[in-house]
Amino acid sequence: MSYQRDFKQRIKAAVIGAGSHCYRNILPSMTYLPIELLAVCDVNMEAAAYTAKQYGCQAYKSSGEMFQKEPEIEAVFISVGAALHPSLILESLNWGRHVWVEKPICLRASQIKDMMEKRGDRVVVAGLKKAFTPAAEKARELIASPEYGKLNSILAVYPMSMPEEGKTVLENGSMPNWLRNGVHPLSFMIGVAGHVDSVQAIVNQAGFGAVLLQFESGVTGTLHLASGPQPDAERYSLFADKWQLDIEDARVSLRRGICDFNYRGTTSYISPADRGGSVVWDTNSCVATLENKAEFVQGMYGEMKYFCDCILEGRRPELGSLEMALEVMEVYEAALISEGKVVMLHS
Ligand SMILES: NC(=O)c1ccc[n+]([C@@H]2O[C@H](COP(=O)([O-])OP(=O)(O)OC[C@H]3O[C@@H](n4cnc5c(N)ncnc54)[C@H](O)[C@@H]3O)[C@@H](O)[C@H]2O)c1
Repeated sequence: MSYQRDFKQRIKAAVIGAGSHCYRNILPSMTYLPIELLAVCDVNMEAAAYTAKQYGCQAYKSSGEMFQKEPEIEAVFISVGAALHPSLILESLNWGRHVWVEKPICLRASQIKDMMEKRGDRVVVAGLKKAFTPAAEKARELIASPEYGKLNSILAVYPMSMPEEGKTVLENGSMPNWLRNGVHPLSFMIGVAGHVDSVQAIVNQAGFGAVLLQFESGVTGTLHLASGPQPDAERYSLFADKWQLDIEDARVSLRRGICDFNYRGTTSYISPADRGGSVVWDTNSCVATLENKAEFVQGMYGEMKYFCDCILEGRRPELGSLEMALEVMEVYEAALISEGKVVMLHS
């Protein structure tokens, strides 16, 4: 089932922050989710009022007033900005609501501890969308399957530079692009390869270069911070013994090589039956269906659906959990202070 109007059970919800991203991506994604929107809250009352009218619900200027007047709200979708997310999350948890929150969830990793303490049995999911893409799901499936199995290394290429004076960035609590968008490739890498043991950032004077991640599983990760025009440079490759997965835009290619390859003896590059060779999954843009829409390809639908499923099924999230958000923030901070040295996490 994929249409909001068809779901038998819907979560009564509100959005906090009806700015550009919410209006463009979060609210439209709700059309496909088990949600009944009760309220829109934004300090910009004009935006809140127009948006609420469009969606047939109530408008509020303050989240406190909204919580007071709308006791039926079960969950909130917060999309305001990293500086205000922590206080809005804590306020929502204090009112007993489940919380979905956009990235970045905060400015400093230490802010997540308070959220964990206040969470109780509430579901909290961070919008780490790249961990929820259909491509990331395929990567996890391959890694877990006996047929394909163990991952050795992962390469992410993302248009990004590391800010100068990383320690000052942390002290001032500012938000460089390394936080605003660096969380995207980190979400993918951590969502696919798991816990990170150590981080090392090696960059040139302009901040371009590599962030090297050593995962607890033995996987090594390279996040290449690439110069060049946005958004063309983003891509991912996963390398295992007998397979390789390349993700470029929506296209996902599973490369399996030539079956039973023999350097001196193999005479055809085409393997028997469906063994070896590549499998390519790609979207088309010709049909007005769901799977080719940006919300679905980029993981926005996936992250919000996962949040709803966790609430409806009474389960604690793993992907996009506060624990995963903390890990993303710890890697972000470690890279800022690395200055070419290896920084151990959880030491
Ligand atoms: N995942 C993605 O692809 C993606 C893309 C763009 C933005 N984002 C994230 O979404 C969030 C919002 O970004 P945006 O571009 O929509 O910004 P925006 O400035 O357009 O929207 C933020 C909204 O929050 C409102 N607001 C501020 N304080 C508030 C408060 N206390 N209570 C209620 N509303 C309040 C503002 O009036 C504004 O309308 C950011 O965290 C950003 O990083 C994510």
